[in-house]
Amino acid sequence: MQNSFCNQKFPLYFSGEVVHGYGRGSTQLGYPTANIDTVSLKELKEVPKGVYFGYCRLNEQGEKGDVEPMVMSLGENRMFGNTETTAEVHVLRQYDHNFYGAHLQVSVIGYIRKMQMFRSVDELIEAIGNDIRVARAELEKPELSAFREDPYFK
Ligand SMILES: Cc1cc2nc3c(=O)[nH]c(=O)nc-3n(C[C@H](O)[C@H](O)[C@H](O)COP(=O)(O)O)c2cc1C
Repeated sequence: MQNSFCNQKFPLYFSGEVVHGYGRGSTQLGYPTANIDTVSLKELKEVPKGVYFGYCRLNEQGEKGDVEPMVMSLGENRMFGNTETTAEVHVLRQYDHNFYGAHLQVSVIGYIRKMQMFRSVDELIEAIGNDIRVARAELEKPELSAFREDPYFK
């Protein structure tokens, strides 16, 4: 599968440890994100920056979690003046705890849009809401929902 918009081949697999970000995802945006450690990020250095969707699984204390849909930003979060690239995964499931230190497996299966600079944080919040709608609609397609059963997660 190849996405003509960003020239990236999917699925794209990577995994890493969930590390502390700036904490703005949960406090300012209402969309908590799992930031991936910088060593694992090196696996993504050839991947175009942007917003993606797919599936992920959180493995906490050696226990494999469920495979869940996710949206991910890969880029510099210019909205907040950041200059370093981060990969931030927002899992489309409500958790009542944070998962710092957990191991996160990610299968990226599609591209949504470029990272953007918005006029306000409210516009970013609206854009993320829209990304989630796009991701959910795409993941309802049988050919994409099948990736939930990917052997990568076995
Ligand atoms: C689906 C999604 C889309 C995002 N799109 C953008 C974007 O277009 N521009 C941007 O500057 N940051 C974008 N972000 C990143 C947020 O700015 C980031 O999650 C926020 O800075 C919180 O980071 P922190 O948890 O390290 O504080 C996006 C995040 C997600 C989950």
